[in-house]
Amino acid sequence: MKEITEQSLDGLRERVMHEMSPKRFRHTLAVEQMVERLCALFCPEESLRMRAAALLHDLTKELDTAGQTALCHQMGISLTPADLLAPKTLHARTAAARIEVDFSEFSDPVVIDAVRWHTTGRAGMTLTEKLLYLSDYIDLSRTFSNCVILRHYFFGAAPESMNGEERLALLRDTLILSYDMTIRDLLDEGIPVAEDTVMARNELLLEKAVAEGRFA
Ligand SMILES: [Fe+2]
Ligand SMILES: [Fe+2]
Repeated sequence: MKEITEQSLDGLRERVMHEMSPKRFRHTLAVEQMVERLCALFCPEESLRMRAAALLHDLTKELDTAGQTALCHQMGISLTPADLLAPKTLHARTAAARIEVDFSEFSDPVVIDAVRWHTTGRAGMTLTEKLLYLSDYIDLSRTFSNCVILRHYFFGAAPESMNGEERLALLRDTLILSYDMTIRDLLDEGIPVAEDTVMARNELLLEKAVAEGRFA
């Protein structure tokens, strides 16, 4: 993998624009801007890699279920019946796989893993995975009430004036709230909740309880 630069991101933005609808591209640009903002708060050194991940995260989102399953088959991604009941999660896997094949200059584990887990989350998420996941939820192009609530929850707490520990606790609590809202929506729609999402939420709740000394 070559080093990611502003110039290579410009080229990537141009390529990605031709892969998706104008609406999806607007969302993609907004996620890039949001992840840049979040990286400035948590890990400025990861900003270029995470902006690449943002540009690539929804590369395959506009494929229908038949297209997703065909691409999974082609890329050797095995699917369970539970995966097929939640086809909206498949694009994270196919996009991650496409990075290695079609965007090899951005084929870096930090980029690929952030894209792979941006929809469901997972237990043991890295900081960069969390930042892309959250950016996708709260980017400024999103106007759904849950997205607005979550954006206000995070930025309304003034993370820029916090110390590192407080900021990470805010990130943890923001993710817990996002999982609560996502799981509630999935229940209302009768859609299965990905095991990874449940594990991610449980892990963060445990982290919070330990941090708050509830087991002391
Ligand atoms: Fe997505
Ligand atoms: Fe997205």
